[in-house]
Amino acid sequence: MYDIPHLDLPPLIGASGTVRLPGSKSISNRVLLLAGLARGTTEVHDLLDSDDTKVMLAALAQLGCGLERAGAVLRVTGIAGRLAVHEATLFLGNAGTAMRPLAATLALLAATQGGRFELSGVARMHERPIGDLVDALRPLGCRIDELGQPGYPPLRLSGAAGGRLATERPIRVRGDVSSQFLTALLLALPLVAQERDIVIEVDGELISKPYIEITLNLLQRFGVAVARAGWQRFTIARGATYASPGAIHIEGDASSASYFVALGAIAAHGGAPLRIEGVGSDSIQGDIRFVDAAQAMGAQVRSGAGWLEVHRGRWPLQGIALDCNHIPDAAMTLAVMALYAEGPTRLSGIASWRVKETDRISAMAAELRKVGAGVVEGPDFIEVTPPAQWQAATIRTYDDHRMAMCLSLAAFNPLAGAAPGRPLRILDPRCVGKTFPDYFEALFGVASADPPAVPVLTIDGPTASGKGTLAAAVADKLGYHLLDSGALYRATGLASRWDGVAPDDEAGLGRLAGLLDLRFGHGPDGSRTWLRGREVSAELRTEEAGLLASRVSALPAVRKALEDLQLAFRRAPGLVADGRDMGSVIFPAAELKVFLTASAATRAERRHKQLISNGISANIDDLRADLEARDARDANRSVSPCRPAGDALLLDNSDLGIEESVQQVLAWWEQRRPF
Ligand code: DC
Repeated sequence: MYDIPHLDLPPLIGASGTVRLPGSKSISNRVLLLAGLARGTTEVHDLLDSDDTKVMLAALAQLGCGLERAGAVLRVTGIAGRLAVHEATLFLGNAGTAMRPLAATLALLAATQGGRFELSGVARMHERPIGDLVDALRPLGCRIDELGQPGYPPLRLSGAAGGRLATERPIRVRGDVSSQFLTALLLALPLVAQERDIVIEVDGELISKPYIEITLNLLQRFGVAVARAGWQRFTIARGATYASPGAIHIEGDASSASYFVALGAIAAHGGAPLRIEGVGSDSIQGDIRFVDAAQAMGAQVRSGAGWLEVHRGRWPLQGIALDCNHIPDAAMTLAVMALYAEGPTRLSGIASWRVKETDRISAMAAELRKVGAGVVEGPDFIEVTPPAQWQAATIRTYDDHRMAMCLSLAAFNPLAGAAPGRPLRILDPRCVGKTFPDYFEALFGVASADPPAVPVLTIDGPTASGKGTLAAAVADKLGYHLLDSGALYRATGLASRWDGVAPDDEAGLGRLAGLLDLRFGHGPDGSRTWLRGREVSAELRTEEAGLLASRVSALPAVRKALEDLQLAFRRAPGLVADGRDMGSVIFPAAELKVFLTASAATRAERRHKQLISNGISANIDDLRADLEARDARDANRSVSPCRPAGDALLLDNSDLGIEESVQQVLAWWEQRRPF
C-alpha cells in the first residue's frame, strides 16, 4: 500500500498481463458476521484484508468470537447466537457493511439477552444515515439511543435479559435509501426467530437488489432459508439458526474488477487481453453486471468461472445512457470510462451515491471537471462529456477508495489524444485500503507508460556520501521505484570473483555484466538482492565488493553492458536512481538531478560509524585514504567519470541530517511538478 500523502501517476498508454483481485468486501464482511454469530467454526478462505474487514474483525474479537489465523485461512468460531460479552464499545471506522448489520444484531441481542453496546465510527460515518434501520427496530422493542444527531451514528443499543420482541407483525423498512438496512435486518432477525416466522416488508422501491441477493445467498450457506415474494416481502422461517458451513471461499470483488474491466476496454489494445482472476461468470455479486455496461461502451469481454479477459473493442468508447440502480458502486467506473467515449454518458438512478463514503455525485463531478470533462449533475444522475482539452490535475479522493481507483484511470489520457500526456496527482492514495490495499501496485503491474514520460530523479555522488539512504528515502516518500546502480557494479564484481574472471579481462567482464541474473525484492528489514538465485544483500555491501565494483566500473564494456538493465528500471509511477552517472549518462533528461558533495572527512566518519555499528572494526584514517583513492579513480576514469551533470543541483549534506536532505530534495522535486 502507498502510505504517502500523494501519488503522482505519469501518463499511461497500455495494459496487459494478469490481475488477481482481492476478496469481495460485501461478501467478506457478511461472512465474517455470519461466522461470528453461527454455531461452530468456519474456515474462511481468501478473505479480503482491508480497512473495512479489519474493523469487522476487531468488533467480532471484542464480542468474544474466536479468531485464529492459519496462513491464508481464518478460522472463526461463532457465539452460536448467544452473547458472550454483554457490554462493548465498538469503533467501526467508515464501514457501512459493519455498522448497519452490527447495529441490528446487537440491538436485537441486547433486547433479548441483556446488554449495552456503543457503536461509532469516523466523522463521515456519523453523517451516513441509519435512521430507517433504527425506525424499523424500535417498534420491536429495541432500545436505541442516538448519541449524536437523530438518525445517525453513534448509537447505543441496550436492553435487559429476558426481554421480548414484538415480531408478530411484519417489520417495515425503507428500501429506497440504502439496501444495507434490509441486509442488516435479514442478517440479524434469524437470531430471534425461534418462536415464529418473521416477516419483513419493504417500503418504497428497493434499490441495489443484487446486494440483497448476496445476503440471501450467504444466509442460505449458513443454514437459514428466507422466502421472498418479489422484492417487497421476505419471510424468515421459525426456528432458524445459524450453523457454520465448515469452509467458505470468498470470491474476488466484482466492484474492484470494474477498474480492470475498464482498463482493458481503454488500454488493452494491440496484444493480449487483460486477464482478471478471482471473479467471473459464476459470480454471486451484482456488480458483475458492470461487464454488460462496459460492453455497451465498447469493451470486448470473455469470461469463465472465476476469470474475465478484456480488451479494447470499439474505440473511442461509446457514450451511453444507463439506469445504474443495479450496479451502484461499479457505476462510478462508467463515469470515468466516459472520458474516453464519443458523446456524453448519462448515469441515472444513482441517488445512493450521495450517502456513500462521500457525496459521490458531487465528488465525481468536481474531480472529472479538473481533468477537463464537462459534467452536469442532478439529485440522482450525472452526465459526463469527454474533455476537449485534458489537464494535469490534483485529484482529491474524499477518503473514498472508489474515487481514488476510478480517477486513476484518467491517467490513460494519451490514448484519448492528450499530447503531451497529462500526469495526475492522487491525494491520499492510501484510502484504497478500504477495499483494495494494493490497488496501485496491481495497476502498475499491468499498466505501461512510454519511458520518456516516466519521471526520473537522479541522485549521484561519491562513495559514502549517503546517497543510497537519501535515494531510498526519497523513493519511499514518492512511491517511486529505486535503482541502486552501484549494486549492479558490485554484483558484477562479485560474479567475476565467483567465476574467476580476471580483473583486466574487459570482454569477459562485459559479457558477465550483460548476463547478470539479478533480482531485487523487499524484506521486513529493507531491500534484498539475489544474484543467480542466491541472496547477496549483505555481501554486496562489504568494502571488498565496493572495491571490486570500483575496478570493474572503470571498464567501458561493463558500463555498456549494464545500460539496458538500468534503463529498464524506468517504469510507472517513477524512478529515483542513485549512482555516479545517473544524471550525466544514463538518464540525461531526468527532471531533477542532485549531486551530493559531502567532504571526504565527513564521509569517512559516516562509513566508520556504520562499520562499527555493524560490529566491524575499522580505522578512520585508512577509510579516508581508501575513499579518496576511490574518488580519484571514479572521477578520473575515461568513461562516465563521477562528476555532476551540468544541470545538477549540488547538495552538500556534510551538516545535514538525513531527514533535512530528504526534505530539500523533495522541495526541489515539487518545484518541477506540474501540479
Ligand atoms: O555507490 P556504490 O558505493 O555502491 O558504488 C560502488 C562502485 O560502483 C563505486 O566505486 C563506483 C561504481 N559505480 C559507478 O561507476 N557508476 C554508478 N552509477 C554506480 C556505481
